[in-house]
Amino acid sequence: MEGAIFFSSRYGSTAQYAQWIGEATDLPAFDVDEARTDPSGYDFLVLGSPVIYHKLMFHKWAKKNFASISSKPTILFSVSGAGAGPKLDDWIAGCLPAELISHMEHFALRGRQNPADLGWYDRVMLIIGGLKNPDPVASREELKGFDYMDKSSIKPIVEMIAQLQGDKIAGSEMHLASR
Ligand SMILES: Cc1cc2nc3c(=O)[nH]c(=O)nc-3n(C[C@H](O)[C@H](O)[C@H](O)COP(=O)(O)O)c2cc1C
Repeated sequence: MEGAIFFSSRYGSTAQYAQWIGEATDLPAFDVDEARTDPSGYDFLVLGSPVIYHKLMFHKWAKKNFASISSKPTILFSVSGAGAGPKLDDWIAGCLPAELISHMEHFALRGRQNPADLGWYDRVMLIIGGLKNPDPVASREELKGFDYMDKSSIKPIVEMIAQLQGDKIAGSEMHLASR
């Protein structure tokens, strides 16, 4: 039994982080919108989702899999324009049950938004949002895009996964030693 990464991604940046984490840890990575892989078969989970319109994109999938997620160690990495802080915490609290949030170790990563890549609906919504946003930095990001992709930001996640993998190895060694 092993750990696995389950992610969703609208424009590819969360998929990129999932791939980097997978390469650094040898964990398989599954796009929840493509594969019907069941998370219940794994010992621990690494979940990744972008924040889209103030919600984690995969919040419905996470609620559907509440039972298996809440029964095993779980890391959540969110990918957003906003950095870590109360705004991001509020968005996550608004779309996931409190028991699930308190069960997961959360890491906030920052993503990428290129206006030229966006579908027309998202483009229009972000222009409207940007024109109305009183925060000048967030407004500029919504209108002009941004690129905060940073491979080195996965380091604490990779370290925590190594710890979980180490726990498992240590557990199986103890099991062998007692035979
Ligand atoms: C339609 C849309 C809505 C977004 N809404 C938010 C938001 O509410 N808060 C935020 O911090 N970032 C927001 N972002 C920025 C995304 O979280 C960021 O671009 C992320 O890297 C997208 O991940 P993906 O490439 O895996 O889809 C939004 C981006 C798009 C395209």
